[in-house]
Amino acid sequence: MISVKDLTFVYEGARKAALSGVSMEIRQGGFVGVIGPSGAGKTTLLSCMNGIIPHHFKGDYYGSVKICGKDTFDCSLTELSLVAGTVFQDVDGMLINATVEDEVLYGLENFGLPKAEIAARLEEVLEEVGIAGLRRRSISTLSGGQKQKVAIAAVLALRPQILLLDEPTGELDPASSRLVFSLLKRLNRERGITVVAVEQKIMLLSEFASELAVMSEGRLEFFGPVREVLRHSEELEKIGVNCPRVVALSRELEKRGLTAGTLCVSVDEAEAEVRRVLEG
Ligand SMILES: Nc1ncnc2c1ncn2[C@@H]1O[C@H](COP(=O)(O)OP(=O)(O)O)[C@@H](O)[C@H]1O
Ligand SMILES: [Mg+2]
Repeated sequence: MISVKDLTFVYEGARKAALSGVSMEIRQGGFVGVIGPSGAGKTTLLSCMNGIIPHHFKGDYYGSVKICGKDTFDCSLTELSLVAGTVFQDVDGMLINATVEDEVLYGLENFGLPKAEIAARLEEVLEEVGIAGLRRRSISTLSGGQKQKVAIAAVLALRPQILLLDEPTGELDPASSRLVFSLLKRLNRERGITVVAVEQKIMLLSEFASELAVMSEGRLEFFGPVREVLRHSEELEKIGVNCPRVVALSRELEKRGLTAGTLCVSVDEAEAEVRRVLEG
């Protein structure tokens, strides 16, 4: 679905590579969380997946990125945006229309779809994302979480197979952050949309993502199922990625020989594990 091979990118005029030798295969229907300290190359990686690099940002580009078998180098940005929709980090900059409805319509009208199709997609996506009640609201009156949903709806209306999101919960409180990730999970599970989300909150990723990609200084340090990546908690701490406390608890139980099972990555799992230990 997304195939990144030996990708190295140096922004024009920069001395250091923003990405160095990154390779990863993201399967169709995957839900990948990308984490790592600031400057690690997370946004650059997303920009390579949606084609902004190399089509907009210039620089030295080595390796390849293929989306659904097509090299991003050979596709136009318009073509790519229909397959992989992006919710950028700066949502306020992204939402340029007055009302929620206009925002969703804007993308659809730009792609020249027939009127009836546009109307049908608008209804569908407002319902899907749970913002039908906000359709005539002015964007400037919405909360951060509601704006995220509008941005997601506008992108989803184009029916992409892949959704790329750059720190979608950066400005959100914990409750709204969970709502956004619950929505992403539902789209992933029910619609089979492949999700790649850059996210700093490891707890959200360990609960909602199926794979974790850990970046540091332009390199992909770890990539695999969440549970397997979180086993490397010491190395992750060194990179600057703190593991969820439940992971530390679970590893401690394991070290003391109290459990031999799989690593717990959520509070529910940890609670069940502690119960088993106490009862046994
Ligand atoms: N437009 C740009 N021009 C030059 N250098 C950039 C540009 N955008 C990012 N960089 C540099 O590339 C590296 C990776 O940045 P970025 O991908 O934004 O990291 P992250 O999203 O993980 O914080 C950093 O060293 C950053 O300074
Ligand atoms: Mg970034």
